[in-house]
Amino acid sequence: MTNEDADGRSAGSGTALAEAPLLDVRDLRVEFRTRDGVAKAVNGVSYRVAPGQTLAVLGESGSGKSVTAQAVMGILDSPPGYVTGGEIVFQGRDLLTLGREERRRIRGAKMAMIFQDALSALNPVLTVGAQLGEMFEVHEGMSRKAARGRAVELMERVGIPAARARVGDYPHQFSGGMRQRIMIAMALALGPDLIIADEPTTALDVTVQAQVMDLLAELQRELTMGLILITHDLGVVADVADTIAVMYAGRIVETAPVHQLYRAPAHPYTRGLLESIPRLDQKGQRLFAIKGLPPNLTAIPPGCPFHPRCPLARDVCRTDPPPLYEAGPDRASACHFWKETLDGAR
Ligand SMILES: Nc1ncnc2c1ncn2[C@@H]1O[C@H](COP(=O)(O)OP(=O)(O)OP(=O)(O)O)[C@@H](O)[C@H]1O
Ligand code: SF4
Ligand SMILES: [Mg+2]
Repeated sequence: MTNEDADGRSAGSGTALAEAPLLDVRDLRVEFRTRDGVAKAVNGVSYRVAPGQTLAVLGESGSGKSVTAQAVMGILDSPPGYVTGGEIVFQGRDLLTLGREERRRIRGAKMAMIFQDALSALNPVLTVGAQLGEMFEVHEGMSRKAARGRAVELMERVGIPAARARVGDYPHQFSGGMRQRIMIAMALALGPDLIIADEPTTALDVTVQAQVMDLLAELQRELTMGLILITHDLGVVADVADTIAVMYAGRIVETAPVHQLYRAPAHPYTRGLLESIPRLDQKGQRLFAIKGLPPNLTAIPPGCPFHPRCPLARDVCRTDPPPLYEAGPDRASACHFWKETLDGAR
């Protein structure tokens, strides 16, 4: 164990993960074959999540965060998207070797996803009680009445006031924050072991964001689920994540226990992201924004894909792709100059 939070949660313990990963994504590759060419959206991503662990996946728009999650869930838009390599081992089985029906069953009962936009994820013409209840009727063969009772319990569990009175309301009758709670309730209904939350609070205002994130973290701890939290926002993950994986151009460029990464990043891209967070104690200072744009995924630059934007880039960076170097216990960085970056940050 290298890092313990104040409340005793482990922060990415290599040993615990080696013993019992819930999810073990290995060298995953996904491409989209479109008329404009082949977009290499995921290029050898590996990550692990243990029961009760929260992994935050961070990166700019287009870095492959959602596509990786869609491949894990088995909901990739295909065509044009194809998994072209790797393994997705969930509870000991490679999901990529399973048939469609079996994947659907696992998706319903063992892993669930929470999306950014609850309004489009929920059915507008069904009451929330009917939608929640349907999960129990279909998957657990409950009567409509019993299922409705479970729906009310779930709504109470996710903090919806007057749940019994509101079980017959439609999604549009709830506020954004309450709708997001309903989506969390849907995800929790069948007691999944893994939840993937893709930008779950982005559409909400800041105070509601914090409440929904706290709820998610609390449920995750209580139910010992694995949680993958996808976000643009480093500020959001500091309090809830154990480990962070930073993605760039379809690769993981750095992974570390959350507090270590905040204290001292080992990749120039992570450093750029951290320096872009507004800090209350530095009001008025200009924000460092990483110059340039992420690459076109149909023509990823040779060598290190970050080199056109990297303030530390040298000749070797333009020709040799950096492997994921071990940068300490439970830490890795895909930068030839990770040590220099890490030492510079300390
Ligand atoms: N349905 C699709 N058809 C074609 N290309 C796609 C499709 N979905 C994703 N892609 C490609 O995969 C890339 C990665 O997309 P992804 O949605 O994973 O990004 P992301 O990291 O989740 O970004 P964001 O933060 O904006 O949600 C996109 O830039 C695009 O090139
Ligand atoms: S390998 Fe080179 S270009 Fe890539 S992040 Fe490191 S220093 Fe920058
Ligand atoms: Mg996304």
